[in-house]
Formats: sequence, C-alpha cells, structure tokens
Amino acid sequence: MINQTEKRFSFGVITMSDKGSRGEREDTSGEYLKTTLTEAGFQLEAYRIVPDDRQTIVNTLIEFVDEIQVDLVVTTGGTGLSPSDVTPEAMCDVLKYEIPGMAEAMRSASLAKTSRAMLSRGRAGVRGKSLIINLPGSLKAVRENLEVVLPVFGHALEKIQGSTADCGAE
Ligand code: MTE
Repeated sequence: MINQTEKRFSFGVITMSDKGSRGEREDTSGEYLKTTLTEAGFQLEAYRIVPDDRQTIVNTLIEFVDEIQVDLVVTTGGTGLSPSDVTPEAMCDVLKYEIPGMAEAMRSASLAKTSRAMLSRGRAGVRGKSLIINLPGSLKAVRENLEVVLPVFGHALEKIQGSTADCGAE
C-alpha cells in the first residue's frame, strides 16, 4: 500500500549525467526508477536527462514541481564529490525545507553495503506540495537507496499535501 487515500501520486525522474545528456551513456538508473516506481503504483508524468549544470538542474526541478506539478521527483546522480557533482547545491536553491531523516536513512542503510555510501551528499525535501529526493548515480546505488525510502513515499506525500489523519505507526 503506497498511501491511505485513494490518490495515485504522480512522479518524475531526472537523471543528472553529462554523458547521458549527450546520448553517450545508457540511462539504466533512470529506467530502473521509472519501472520500479510505476510498479509500486505511482504514475509516471515526466522524465529528463540533464547535464551536471547547477542552473539547468534548478530549472528542471522547478519545472517539474511548479509547472508539471508532479507529486514526487526522484533524481539520480551528481550527489558525490567530483567537481561536476552539483545536485545538492541545486537542491538548496529550490527546496522550501529539507527532510534530513530521509537522506540520513539512505546513507545509514547503505553503509551496511558499502563504506562509500558516506560519499553521497544527496538531500531530500519539499517544494510546494512535492517531495524531491536525490539518489546517487549508479544502478546499484539507486536500487539500494530506493528500497530504503520507497516504503514511506506514500505517507510522506499525504502529509506534505495536508493530510491531518492520525499517524498510526506500522
Ligand atoms: N550507496 C549505495 N547504497 N550503494 C553504492 O554503491 N555508491 C557511493 C555512494 N552511495 C553507493 C552509494 C558512491 S561510490 C558515491 S561516489 C556516491 O554515492 C555518490 O554517487 P554519485 O556521484 O553518482 O551521485
């Protein structure tokens, strides 16, 4: 069950990759996200591969939330330490507030799989009535991080969009 209301939440996927945006790399992570979230009951509304450019990422996040109005935006890539990794900086420009626990939970669970998990600077947070969350770029990392947060997407979106129902812990 992804939520307690009957609403089917929409989602968008943004892949941050210089090579991918030039068509030089297959976007296996983005494809995995589209398939897995659709199977989980979310409705795919938008998908984009963008270069690792801060302003382009900001513009795309704003377009997805403010214009297309997707409920959930999942990004992959650009969260690490290389000079081109600017996804977290772009998030600072668009989020109203962060949800630190979601990013912390992904890093914490991922540390059981690889010590390199601590190198991801991915963030999660809210803009408008949408949840935006950053996952690292590799397919392995996307799988391992998504399984941590997918179970709470529905409840998080209900709360972001104003549900006043009591929270019954699972
Ligand atoms: N988290 C999980 N669960 N599994 C992984 O393999 N890779 C790490 C980290 N997080 C990884 C992970 C590595 S090697 C890096 S460099 C960072 O994510 C940042 O990745 P990105 O720059 O592709 O976003």
